[in-house]
Parts: sequence; structure tokens; C-alpha cells
Amino acid sequence: MISRETIDEIKNRLDIYDVVSDFVSLKKSGQNFRGLSPFNNEKTPSFFVVPAKGIFKDFSSGKGGDAFTFVMEHEKMTYAEAIRYLAKKYGIEIKEDKTSSESAEEQSERESLYILMNFAKEYYKNNLIHSEEGQSIGLSYFRERGFNDRTLEKFELGYALEGWENFSHEAVAKGYNKDLLEKTGLVVKKEDGSSYDRFRGRVIFPVHGLAGKVVAFGARMLSKDKNQPKYINSPETEIYHKSDVLYGLYQAKNAIRKDDVCYLVEGYTDVISMHQANVENVVASSGTALTENQIKLIHRFTENITVLFDGDNAGIKAALRGIDMILRGGLNVRVLLFPDGEDPDSFSRKIGTTEFQNYLKKNTQDFVSFKANLYAAEAAGDPIRKAESIKEIVSSIAVIPDPIKRSVYIQETSHLLKIGEPVLLTELNKILVQERRKNEKEKLRDQEVQEPVEPIEDIGTISKIDPLSLVYYQERETIRLLLNYADETVDELKLSDFLFNELEDVEFSNPVFKEIYEKLKSAITHHQPISSHYFLSDGNDAVRTAVSDLITVRYEVSPHWSGKFKIDIPNEKNTLSKSALSNVLRLKFRVVQKMIEENLIRVKSAETSGSWEELDKALEIQTELKKAESELAGNLGIVVAK
Ligand code: CTP
Ligand code: MN
Repeated sequence: MISRETIDEIKNRLDIYDVVSDFVSLKKSGQNFRGLSPFNNEKTPSFFVVPAKGIFKDFSSGKGGDAFTFVMEHEKMTYAEAIRYLAKKYGIEIKEDKTSSESAEEQSERESLYILMNFAKEYYKNNLIHSEEGQSIGLSYFRERGFNDRTLEKFELGYALEGWENFSHEAVAKGYNKDLLEKTGLVVKKEDGSSYDRFRGRVIFPVHGLAGKVVAFGARMLSKDKNQPKYINSPETEIYHKSDVLYGLYQAKNAIRKDDVCYLVEGYTDVISMHQANVENVVASSGTALTENQIKLIHRFTENITVLFDGDNAGIKAALRGIDMILRGGLNVRVLLFPDGEDPDSFSRKIGTTEFQNYLKKNTQDFVSFKANLYAAEAAGDPIRKAESIKEIVSSIAVIPDPIKRSVYIQETSHLLKIGEPVLLTELNKILVQERRKNEKEKLRDQEVQEPVEPIEDIGTISKIDPLSLVYYQERETIRLLLNYADETVDELKLSDFLFNELEDVEFSNPVFKEIYEKLKSAITHHQPISSHYFLSDGNDAVRTAVSDLITVRYEVSPHWSGKFKIDIPNEKNTLSKSALSNVLRLKFRVVQKMIEENLIRVKSAETSGSWEELDKALEIQTELKKAESELAGNLGIVVAK
């Protein structure tokens, strides 16, 4: 563990402008600096550095935070790595607190697994190039598939000799102990205590972790023996969790970041063939659907995935289901179909590098449109099929976390299927409500089972929070006013006191805003005002993003304007009293509307289940809420119109 003092010293020493300008060219803009987003391709600069607050804010990607966050985001570093990086930059010596001896032991066990895997990789590589069997069987197979020397080296391809114990003998002779051989999965132990090599008479594809260390192997057979599996893969080990690794990502990551898109293919050979065609931003799922963690891995480098499909139609619909998972992860999904009977491997070799690259460019389609087209063609003239298609497509749209994207897709689908948007929206909302109710139930169940110890929720980033409900915007506005103007006076009250007073009976529903609100409230009421800085350095990711978002002024108004041209730029401070009041009313109004909506669900379920007592109660509440709603609407009308 890096000591607290070291971190504090770095914080004192660093200058955000200095840190960021190592990576982004910045121009002065008022008191701030401005440049092109390093996280997105953009033409108009929307990336800001605010030295006075020690923060950056990127409006195109939504990212924001302090210097540590910037280094972590930009260089894909962990927190510890970012600290080391900044310490080095400012010549600060790192002091560490001691780690426990147990974890040191664990670490050294993992370390020895890596060392053995590396030894095995070198051994298989050597077999391929230097043994007679490797050359005549393995190497000639790779040559047949058109793999050149550069490719063999880039993917560190190898060959495992025929015979039961070639590898074991070699490893033991080099001093590796037998337990370790088994722990890597390279050797399989039988019940009678004897053991044999897992990979025999096969070509070897090493699987690399993100840092380039070999964590597993895939081994393809070369004979036509129908009783043998085509591939034998490493089992799960302490250093290999299949669901956290993607084949080819190590070789692809720079290209993925540069091209800002990741191609997804099925297998080892597809990845390698695409590299041979100079397409390097490609990874393989190894024949299965992507896992959540694999999607997160890709997300570290890009928001865009293009899934490549073999040209056999049968598999497509099944595969489409798996894609919802990627949409759910917030990524943009596109698809690309190869001609019948072709896969990336066969097709790239058939038409050659240039043509292949052109094909990729010209034939990529947006996923939702692709799916809509597919179903539209099928359902033409068949009302029942059409209804099913709508459900099918809308269910994909429903998993997209960004409501703006959802509404764009609804529009698009409406065109493609020639169905009115309201119909699609009704279907969409039905699914969203169902989903939300399911989540709530799950949450309740979890709460029952769990002991009520840790109140900290993993709420993800702010963009993932469903802003469908307007309450969200009103809560956000309240926090923004508090962060920026807590000390200003409104109707002879401090703005913070005014808001706290007015909102006494309102509970925030968004967990991030709630957390910020409560911290601010408790600090201010105890006369220990906290600056927004507190949240930037001590808050979790979601809190940091939210706060940096809310305290950055997006456009600086040139001071000349109001002076020279006598243009009156409305100054927010002057209108605070009105905006604070209308915000409070709006928030209450929205909260009541939300309660009405929720209560309606109660009414309906009471109706269906026939529990009349329940229904009575719900209807009574409904009446009260409706009264409150119209009262607030009245007040709001007065304030807004004033
Ligand atoms: N796969 C596997 N085990 C199998 C079959 C397939 O692990 N028994 C995984 C491998 O990662 C493989 C991918 O699924 O790369 C795709 O399978 P397939 O298309 O059959 O293999 P390719 O690697 O494309 O091999 P080839 O082109 O030689 O057919
Ligand atoms: Mn294949």
C-alpha cells in the first residue's frame, strides 16, 4: 500500500494543467484551458481544464475528475499506477505501508504460475521452429493457412509434440515442481497418481492477458480424427478466468483505441487472419457469447463494437440474443455479415487485404437497424409475426442505458417497420417498468438476506442512471445550485438554508445526488462547509463525475461583450432567488408525479388481485396526491410566469 503521506504530497505538488498538457494540447479560454477531447474524436474542442479547481471536464465523453482520474482514464492505469506515474513525474519518493505476508505468498504463487506458463510458451514455440516434427506437421499447417513469420511471432504460436510426457520431462528437468505443473493445467493428474501432458500433437495458440503475460493455451488438432475435440483449452486456474479474458486483446488494444472500434470474431484463426490483412483491432470470444467482464474490458478502449458474422443465416438469430448483453453494457453495436459460407478467415484470404478492408468499411450496419430489417422482411404481410417482431426489437432497445439513444432507435424502428412511434413507446415503457419492478424486488430481497452493514451502493456512472424520470433533472439542479451558490443570499436567507428548509420533507431518489446532498447538508448545518474539492478527491467515481460536471461552466462569456456591445448577459447570481424557488417547486412537483405513477401501479395490481381494502387505500392516496399536484402546479405557474 502506498502511504497516505505520499499521496498527499503528490496532491500538493501537482498542477492539473501540467499533467494534462503532457497528453492534450490546451489553449487558454478565460480562466480555464480548452482542447480537443482525448477520449473522443471531435472537431470542436469540448474538453476543459479548470486549474482553479484542479479538475478537468470532458463534455463529449462525460468524463471528469482530478489529475489522478485523468491519468487513470487516459492511460488506462489503476489508481496505484497513476500514483506511481505522478510521483515519478514530480520526483516524489514513494513510501509504502507493508503488505500482509499472506498476500505476499499468494502473489509469489501466481508469479511462479506465470513463469511456468512463459516457459511452456517458449518450449512450444521452439518445437514449432526447431523440431523436425514441429516443422513438418505444425509449421506446414500454419503455412498452409497463410500465416507468415511476423504473425507466428506476434501471436507466439507453437507446437506440442506427440507423446504423453515430452513437456513434463522437460519442465521437471528444468527444476519446475510437479504440483506447479498441475496447477497451470499443463499436466493432468490421474487417479493412480501418474500424470500426462494435456496438449499433445497439436498446434498451440497462447492466450495473453492484458499485460502480455501468457495465461492459457488453446491447442488445435491437425488430424481428422472425429473422436477428438477440435480444440483443447487450458482449464480455469489461479491466473486464468476464462470469462475475464479475450483472445487477441493484448495484440489489439492499441489499434482498438486508435480506430475507436473493436471487431468481434469467433475464433483464434479469425483474429490471426485479420491481422494478416492488416486489421489489428480484433478480438475473439472463443465461440461463446461475451461475458459482462469481457465487455467491460473492451469498454476500456472503445465504446464501439462491430460483431462479424459468418454468412450462415441459421446462427444469426441465436447470436443476436447475445448481443443484447453488449447493448446493456452501454456500447454501440454494429454488425457485419459475410457472404454465404465465408468467415473472416476464409474471406480475407479469398479477396485479399485491400478488398477485405473495403468490405469491412462498406458493409457495417447499425445493430438495431439490422435487426429491425431482418424481422421486417420476415414479418411482411403477417400481422402476428409483425407483433412478435416489435416485441423482439423493442426488447433490445430497452436494454440500452442511454435514454437518448433509445429514443433515436425507436424513431428509426418506427420508420423501418412502418409502425407509429407511440405503439413502440408503449411497448418500450412496458418493458422498462417491468424491469424496474424486477430490480426493486431483487433489491428488497437482497436487503432481507443481507445484514444491513454497508450502505455504499455500486451505482455506476451517472450516464447509466435512468434519467427517464424528471425528478432526476430537478435533483441535479438542486445539487448544482448548492455546489455553486451555497453561500449566496436568497430572500435574506442563505441559499443553502433556504433549500434545506424547503426540501425538509423531500427524499432524493437518485443515490448519487442523495449522497452529495446529505454530505453537504450535514456539513453546512454543522458550520463546516465543504468545498466541491472534497467530493472530487474523496467521492466515488459516480460522485466525482457528477460534481465535476456540475461545477464546470461550459462556456466562458468574453468580458468584452457586455461592456462593449452593451449586451446584457444574464448573470445567474442575479436570478438566483427565482431559480431556487422554482427549482424547489419543480422538484416537489416531480416527486409527487412520481408518487402518483407508483401509486397507479398499486391501484392496478390491487384491481387485478381483487384485494378491495388495498384498492381503497391506494385510491385514497391517489386523491391526496392529485390535490398536492394541482396545488404545486398552481404555485409553479405563478413563479414561472412572474
Ligand atoms: N472452440 C473451442 N473448442 C472447440 C471448438 C471451438 O474452444 N471444440 C473455440 C475456439 O476458440 C475457436 C472458436 O471456438 O477458435 C471458433 O471455432 P471454429 O470456427 O471451429 O475454429 P477456428 O479457430 O475458426 O478453426 P478453423 O478455422 O481451423 O476451423
Ligand atoms: Mn472458423
